[in-house]
Amino acid sequence: MMNSIIVSPSILSADYSNFAASISEIDEAKAQWIHIDVMDGCFVPNLTFGAPLIRALRPKTKAIFDVHLMIKTPGVFLQEFAQAGADVITFHYEAEIHCHKYLTEIRSLGLKAGIAIVPSTPCSVLEEVLPLIDIALIMTVNPGFGGQTLIPECLEKVKKLSAMREKAKLNFRISVDGGINEQTAKLAKAAGADTLVTGAAFFGNSDKSGFINRVQG
Ligand code: DX5
Ligand code: ZN
Repeated sequence: MMNSIIVSPSILSADYSNFAASISEIDEAKAQWIHIDVMDGCFVPNLTFGAPLIRALRPKTKAIFDVHLMIKTPGVFLQEFAQAGADVITFHYEAEIHCHKYLTEIRSLGLKAGIAIVPSTPCSVLEEVLPLIDIALIMTVNPGFGGQTLIPECLEKVKKLSAMREKAKLNFRISVDGGINEQTAKLAKAAGADTLVTGAAFFGNSDKSGFINRVQG
């Protein structure tokens, strides 16, 4: 069965002096998810925010908090992010030896479990953990920064993963993250993606609900 299309605006491109206002903009645009990029300056060459921001924003919205951990040793922080109010926790395959253990732990905390791969990692490495995931996040740029251009080869991996999903008769979501705008969203959906993260294109658009409708449509 096909998953419905979900757009997950990323607050990496929000107004850092007023995250609450950016959250309201996402709610008003009727996006159901909010993508929160946690970076540690080690797994990726940039720093953002941690669980305290999630805890502070949690009472401001009912939207699903789609937390993307771009950090080393993500397993250490799962409980903290769960308690702060994350609904989905996605960590990187490249950052964690014990993916099986921590995907299971995320689900046992009552959350949706996601695994992410960077552009140079083949999707075949995910084969063994597919039954344990709710989301596979295919990075369509090298992680660390918003506003980059989508790498088209990454959509080939979306196609491959979509075929793997069908073959295994599973229905985890396939999320694409990086360089998603109205044009690339069409290509990503055609390749099999059903969850579209968008930072610069969403916050750079003055008609945010129109943007969400068109990307979702
Ligand atoms: C990049 C982050 C993305 C980022 C996407 O490392 O994981 O979530 O916010 O931003 P855009 O849509 O601007 O490429
Ligand atoms: Zn992200």
